[in-house]
Amino acid sequence: MSNEGVDKGRRRLLVATTSVVGAVGAVGAAVPFVASWNPSAKAKAAGAPVKADVSKLEPGQQMIVEWRGKPVWIVRRTEEALENLAKLDDKLADPASEKPQQPDYIPNTPVRALKPEFAVMTGICTHLGCSPTYRPEIAPEDLGEEWLGGFFCPCHGSKFDLSGRVYKGVPAPTNLVIPPHAYIDDKVIMVGVDPEETA
Ligand code: FES
Repeated sequence: MSNEGVDKGRRRLLVATTSVVGAVGAVGAAVPFVASWNPSAKAKAAGAPVKADVSKLEPGQQMIVEWRGKPVWIVRRTEEALENLAKLDDKLADPASEKPQQPDYIPNTPVRALKPEFAVMTGICTHLGCSPTYRPEIAPEDLGEEWLGGFFCPCHGSKFDLSGRVYKGVPAPTNLVIPPHAYIDDKVIMVGVDPEETA
């Protein structure tokens, strides 16, 4: 067996679901979470992929997994949220994702996702590294009438839409980073691997 084969086998063995560290949903439902096997600290440090079962995620809900010590958000976007993405371009600094903040197999369309319904992104502000807050509401008082849902960074006020695209005129210089990830079936996302690695 080649080394590559061995590595691939190991990688599969190390795959595990990490804890969901928080969730905000329209109905405040329990966090969907399927525990399987926790990787060792060593495996985590080495960046073992993590599995996210999104089958119980309701439209509008967010789940968070940890990969390489960082939060990775998965948001199941509603149809309304997806329609609203196209309306935001003139408010955004890099609406077409021209700066490489995503793997090249992720389209640089407004959805920035392998499947439009599920947004996957690293939950770290591209300004100074705070973790922004999920704010899916439309026009909340503190974010203004034009807010169509997204993420707000309380540290210095950066704003991102529900695809992680940064607004103009805020401190964060780029869109949120999309980590490598792939679907291993319809409702299971593996964070930390490319689609080719699961083929
Ligand atoms: S760290 Fe997010 S705005 Fe500064």
